[in-house]
Order: sequence, then structure tokens, then C-alpha cells
Amino acid sequence: MEFMTDVVAEAFGAGSDRATRFAELLAVHGVERGLIGPREVDRLWDRHLLNSVAIAECVPQGAAVVDVGSGAGLPGIPLAIARPDLSVVLLEPMARRIAWLEEVVTKLELTNVEVVRGRAEEKAIRQRVSDRDVATARAVAPLGKLAGWCLPLLRVGGQLIALKGSSAAEEIERDRDEIARAGGVDPVVQTCGRGLDEPATVVVVRRAEPAAGRHRRRR
Ligand SMILES: C[S@@+](CC[C@H](N)C(=O)[O-])C[C@H]1O[C@@H](n2cnc3c(N)ncnc32)[C@H](O)[C@@H]1O
Repeated sequence: MEFMTDVVAEAFGAGSDRATRFAELLAVHGVERGLIGPREVDRLWDRHLLNSVAIAECVPQGAAVVDVGSGAGLPGIPLAIARPDLSVVLLEPMARRIAWLEEVVTKLELTNVEVVRGRAEEKAIRQRVSDRDVATARAVAPLGKLAGWCLPLLRVGGQLIALKGSSAAEEIERDRDEIARAGGVDPVVQTCGRGLDEPATVVVVRRAEPAAGRHRRRR
């Protein structure tokens, strides 16, 4: 238990108490409200909170982040707790999950988080959530589809960080063309949180400069 306290303190720093409060909310109300399965309670820290916060080391200082398909708040809430320098939008289409996210943000007094309802690919969302430095996503869609949804929300040079686990390299190979068509370049697999029991395997894709003349009309 003491070991766990050290790991949490190292990962969340001054946000450790907030992270513990989030874990408690998930374990009780998250399960009651069907946001997380009852079997997840025993592995809330390793599989969910620590696995989520592991990506903090890949996110630049002061970045504007959008967490696409945040669900119960993963990875967006742990990231926002550990990194008060970030401004994080939690994007989620389902009303029930939006209500949960808003309650958690209020209870934890997370002043660096905004909750937005919608689908990443909607025009209204692209207008409202644009020029982000980083988009995160965990368990939302195959990589190619994610690239099409997330890259338009980023500034040129911004990064999609997709938590993918063991399928990461395979998804890059399978979806390489789709990623390129979506304007993504240099997809790479990275391991974040090497000190953890369950480090996070992510795919990082950068939004490229638009190709010169790509949208020019043919005469
Ligand atoms: C399996 S859950 C994962 C939730 C959370 N990221 C996690 O790791 O626990 C997938 C989430 O993506 C959301 N989602 C699905 N399609 C989406 C879209 N087009 N844009 C934004 N969110 C979407 C769903 O509503 C759901 O909350």
C-alpha cells in the first residue's frame, strides 16, 4: 500500500489527493452509473488512472489538449490533475457521460478543464475546438478513423496521442494510407511511464502542413 502511495505521489505530484478522490468517485458512483465495470474497481489505479497519467510525459508544457471520447474521464481527467499547466477539453457525445464529467470537474474543482458535448467529426465541434496542440484518445476508434476525427482539431504540427496498447504497431501498418489522407505524418509507437507496472503504449501522429495546392481547383 505504501508502495502504491509513492507511485501515485510520483505520478500526480501535488494532485495526488485529487487523483485519489477521482478514483473513489469512479469506484462508487462510476460503477453505480454504469460508466465503469464493477470488475475494474480492483485495477482502477494500474489500468486506468496510472495508465492515463503516463502520457503526461509526452505532452508539452502549457499545451491546449482535447481528449476525444473521454467517457468516464480517461485519460483527460488524470492528465488535467497531474498537469495544471494544461488546458484540457473533454469531448464526449453521450449526455449521461457529459453529466458525469461536469459533476467530477465541479467536485474536484478542476479549473483547467472544459467539458464539451459532441462528436469529433462534427463541423460545429471543429469550429469550437480547433488549433489544439494535442489530441488524446483511449479506446475510442481504430487509428485511421481516429486520425480523421482528431487531426482537424489540431494546429499544424500538433500531435495526436492515441493510447493503443499491444495493437499500436499493427494499427500503424494497417491504417498508414488513411492516416496520410487525414493529413497525418510520422506515426510512431512510444512507451510512456516506463516505471509503472502497466506502461502506456501510444501512437503519436503529427498534423502535417497542408500540401501546397492540394485544394486547388483543376482548370
Ligand atoms: C469505450 S469508451 C472509452 C472511454 C474512455 N476514453 C476510456 O478510455 O475509458 C469510447 C468513448 O468514445 C465516445 N465516442 C464515440 N465516438 C465518438 C466520436 N465520434 N467523437 C467523440 N467521442 C466519441 C463514446 O461515447 C465513449 O464515451
